[in-house]
Amino acid sequence: MSDKKSISIEDLLKNPDVQMATSNISQELIKRRLFIPLKCDVFSKPYTELRDNDDIKFNVEIEAANQLPSIINNKMQTIVGVDSPEESFKKRYCKKRNIGIVFSGGPAPGGHNVIAGLYDAAKKTNPETRIFGFLLGPDGIVENEAIELTGDLVDDYRNLGGFTMIKTGRAKIDTKEKITLSRETCKSLELDALIIVGGDDSNTNAAFLAHEMFKDGVQVIGVPKTIDGDIQVRDAEGNVLCAMSFGFHTAARAFATAINNLCTDSSSDVKYWHICKVMGRVASHLALEVALQTHANMTLIGEDLTDYIDEKRIEKAIKKGTIDYNAYGMTLRHLSRVICDGIVRRAAVGKNYGVIVIPEGVLEFINEIQMFILKLNTIIAEYNETHDTNFHTDFPALEDKLDYLRRLAKLSRDDASFTLWNTRDDDLFNDIPAFFQEGLLTERDSHGNFQFSQVQTEKVLMGLVKDYLDILQENGTYKIGIERLYYSKTLEKGGLDPDYFGPILFKNYDDDDFLLIKQSIISLKTLKQTLINEGMITKQQDVPDSVKKIYQKSVPKFKTQIHFYGYDGRGNDPTRFDCNYTYNLGLTVFSLIANGATGQMAAIKNLEMDFVKWAPIGIPIAPLMHLEERKGKLALVLEKSIVDVNSVSFKVVKALREKWLAAEPIEDNYRRPGPIRFGGEDEEDRPITLKLNALGRSRQ
Ligand code: FBP
Repeated sequence: MSDKKSISIEDLLKNPDVQMATSNISQELIKRRLFIPLKCDVFSKPYTELRDNDDIKFNVEIEAANQLPSIINNKMQTIVGVDSPEESFKKRYCKKRNIGIVFSGGPAPGGHNVIAGLYDAAKKTNPETRIFGFLLGPDGIVENEAIELTGDLVDDYRNLGGFTMIKTGRAKIDTKEKITLSRETCKSLELDALIIVGGDDSNTNAAFLAHEMFKDGVQVIGVPKTIDGDIQVRDAEGNVLCAMSFGFHTAARAFATAINNLCTDSSSDVKYWHICKVMGRVASHLALEVALQTHANMTLIGEDLTDYIDEKRIEKAIKKGTIDYNAYGMTLRHLSRVICDGIVRRAAVGKNYGVIVIPEGVLEFINEIQMFILKLNTIIAEYNETHDTNFHTDFPALEDKLDYLRRLAKLSRDDASFTLWNTRDDDLFNDIPAFFQEGLLTERDSHGNFQFSQVQTEKVLMGLVKDYLDILQENGTYKIGIERLYYSKTLEKGGLDPDYFGPILFKNYDDDDFLLIKQSIISLKTLKQTLINEGMITKQQDVPDSVKKIYQKSVPKFKTQIHFYGYDGRGNDPTRFDCNYTYNLGLTVFSLIANGATGQMAAIKNLEMDFVKWAPIGIPIAPLMHLEERKGKLALVLEKSIVDVNSVSFKVVKALREKWLAAEPIEDNYRRPGPIRFGGEDEEDRPITLKLNALGRSRQ
């Protein structure tokens, strides 16, 4: 004992066991760095070639043709392996190159493997080729902040999550000045090619840069990245060319693991509703995958709400001979009612707990909120343009912003031609809690996107849920069902006859396993009055303790724990699927560069199939562009893919919703996805949504 005490901390820290136990190099890290991703068959050949695929057509937006003439006629290209091409091809293919790569937007697991794939292919083809990593996102290009990537550096990050190696940023190269500076950077580094690894906006940026640098001979290639899973590319016929951006699988699996743990917690402690907001700025792909992975009790899917029709309201209106416009499309209040319905139904079978998954971008699909977002986008953009300053700098406090809006509402009263913000908008907006107003007025990102991650969506929604549950509790419809056996035992213990009290206390005493206290009994006072009215006790007598105990057990307490799953999943080490996917994207990028492509996006076709069928391709970016509102104006951007409510995965989730709600006296139906395992045969090999949606296509 005294010996142990005498060991100094310095000696302890020198102890090899202590050093090993506290080393940064974990076994998992060693295993990850050594893992060699699979290579698509075409990359086993010494060279690759591109074949234009003329059968694949796109619906080209005229504005895209006008703005991006040099790359608008690009074709979809298939990569094929070549053993011994002509000498002139070899010379071109293997020439020494300088290649720059940048990460843009939020991190997504697998990014380092894009670099590793590119690095390996480039160095194998010509060891003198140099790869530069631009630091901190697109700003690194504008400001010429780059490092040359070495083999040791690349090895350190193989199969690891994050974008730590060169970091990332959300800047956009969108002004003439920034484009000029970017061209100068490319010139000074003598770049042959620039790779932009990013989401829809970053690939949009890649297309514009490809066009701008066409004459300079700098090739620009995009790589579809985002955990949101909203870059899915189809041709004009609906054929899927890119089913999923990288990082989606890992993030969804990470969220699902954590959320399943909450399912276990809540069904053990049976006292909390866990409210889980999951990332996905607009589309609900991540929430949909999490639903399939965990079978959480309720999962909202934003895209499902847009076309919502309230049949009951319509029926009521028809009977009255009127039209109820509020029956079409989901309002925030109505959504809270739908959630309450699930909560009340589970409570009725004794389950006053559960797990709700809310997609981060759900508000985008709520009519009234969408309207506010659009109007405020325009107001802020117009202000910035006419004042040559910034709305948020000029009105730093919420009160200042509200005051400005009030002035606009007044303007609409004085001048009928001004309709952007009227008195009704102002009144509705002032009805919203201050933290939510602040969220809606928050600064847009550099691409003009509304920053949903800054809004406490779950707080807004759950606030409304709480209010409505209070009303339901007051009118006696939100009650916890009491197990029949428990009721009988409790009353018998108290020396009372359960069958004598049962029909008086419960509305379903003759039918169900879970007994529901009558709607009219909403307090100890009304309980006593009921017993008096039924002649069970006199006015002078107290409610028997065992009856009181049963009543108290039926009174629900709605307790929530709020969680946000986003940044954690984004930083997760990639699944094997994402490791293989991204490494092959890196190889694809090099193949596109070596074959002279520009304005293309690297992609892998057939991701839903066995690995042997994966097919690396180049997709032309310009023909995918469409016009979208950004900062109050129409801008040419890559179209975001939202959840298709006709897809197999959505239909399956919809069909199983009731089962997973489990508002019946049965076990919950939670699914255990388990933690992400890097090794082992039983590790899931691809997202469930990917598999299900492919099933739909093969049956078409
Ligand atoms: P990308 O589209 O850039 O990949 O980012 C997506 C995302 O992870 C969203 O899910 C989320 O809304 C947003 O980033 C958060 O952004 P920020 O890092 O700026 O907080």
